[in-house]
Amino acid sequence: MAATETFGEIIDGDVFKYYANGCWNKSSSGKSVPIINPSTRKPHFKVQACTREEVDRVMESAKTAQKSWAKTPLWKRAELLHKAAAILKEHKEPIAECLVKEIAKPAKDAVTEVVRSGDLISYCAEEGVRILGEGKFLVSDSFPGNDRTKYCLSSKIPLGVVLAIPPFNYPVNLAVSKIAPALISGNSIVLKPPTQGAVAALHMVHCFHLAGFPQGLISCVTGKGSEIGDFLTMHPGVNCISFTGGDTGIAISKKAGMVPLQMELGGKDACIVLEDADLDLAAANMVKGAFSYSGQRCTAVKVVLVMGSVANTLVKKINDKVAKLTVGLPENDCDVTPVVTESSANFIEGLVMDAKEKGATFCQEYKREGNLIWPLLLDNVRPDMRIAWEEPFGPVLPVIRINSVEEGIHHCNASNFGLQGCVFTKDINKAMLISDAMETGTVQINSAPSRGPDHFPFQGLKDSGIGSQGITNSINMMTKVKTTVINLPAASYTMG
Ligand code: G3H
Repeated sequence: MAATETFGEIIDGDVFKYYANGCWNKSSSGKSVPIINPSTRKPHFKVQACTREEVDRVMESAKTAQKSWAKTPLWKRAELLHKAAAILKEHKEPIAECLVKEIAKPAKDAVTEVVRSGDLISYCAEEGVRILGEGKFLVSDSFPGNDRTKYCLSSKIPLGVVLAIPPFNYPVNLAVSKIAPALISGNSIVLKPPTQGAVAALHMVHCFHLAGFPQGLISCVTGKGSEIGDFLTMHPGVNCISFTGGDTGIAISKKAGMVPLQMELGGKDACIVLEDADLDLAAANMVKGAFSYSGQRCTAVKVVLVMGSVANTLVKKINDKVAKLTVGLPENDCDVTPVVTESSANFIEGLVMDAKEKGATFCQEYKREGNLIWPLLLDNVRPDMRIAWEEPFGPVLPVIRINSVEEGIHHCNASNFGLQGCVFTKDINKAMLISDAMETGTVQINSAPSRGPDHFPFQGLKDSGIGSQGITNSINMMTKVKTTVINLPAASYTMG
């Protein structure tokens, strides 16, 4: 069990409690949801199965708490966030241990996730004080036909209750990337963590509790998405939804009412490699980009589009590096660890088998034990194969050989996704032109796709999402503009 002395109050017996009204609670449902360890495929933790009535109560207290939080001085909100960040970083080890057991994140990466999250909270507190501390002043005679008879003052005010739904792959980092901007902006937060990752998220919430945030301002409900998911996202008490995950986000967008949405729904990040590229650099980035955390990152490299003349050399360099990857348990800090669920592993296997039937070249033998899939490079992939378009979210990298830059850009833009992409070339002019042509939110030049540093703007196009992320964008998105206009009489004092 991951609960150390500091976290003792968040667990009852072997079931983790949910957080509401400033304390840790057992659900009246009397039911729990098991969390399966991806490595052992056995239940490891249990969390409360919250009821709809409990969700209603959480929404009510979130609404009440937000009213006084919005009046809490900005510097004081920032101070509490800095405190939560420090507590989180101080307890990185037990939280990282949950990530290892719940989502099979390699041990070192798990610690990095927690530390990075603390840094994100602190940065957000500082940025929030700057952005929210400023407003705008306009005068009316800057618009045609007007005299200087109106002064317009505008500033940012909170939206109300923000519902945050992070994904399994970053249950701490992608939770705080929603919580911190919401809180600094004067909103309250209702967090629904993913089932795999819920225990790490509950530990993280306890750090906010220990920092001393007001009662009801932060809540965390757990349970099956099938029981409380729609109820939460369609709840009339919600004023903003920030979701990261898969296709479910498209369904949420269709059902949610007139509330701002921040959706990040995955990608099929393409990596275009030109003839003049530094192939060692490209291969190193592709292996890291495609196989770190077993490819379970929305920004993983998910298809390589390489010019035919350098394809053999690149494939060999990638294969040499794949051979050096360690495969095994997250506790041993292996590079490639079991994927999150058995159904994920089955889905990945389906894509691999489809590629096999259609004649892709297997650079390694396909190997799977339970949820553990060995890294696999598929060469000579063609557009009629599912793996050319679908997101495996696993350690499989398809290579498509192209004859022109245009062919690469065409493949990238024909995808339903548009999160990130990358281009490897020594010609910066070409790189800029290709970046302009790629229909993706971000293009990395000579590096693999990546969200971080966490304050950079991050926006998916097409089915990859809506609503810009990154700290400044999130603060802007979780606030609305309040304007007051001072109307002056037409007469004015004469000077002198
Ligand atoms: O999985 C989606 C994350 O936003 C990717 O973040 O690029 O830092 O791994 P990352």
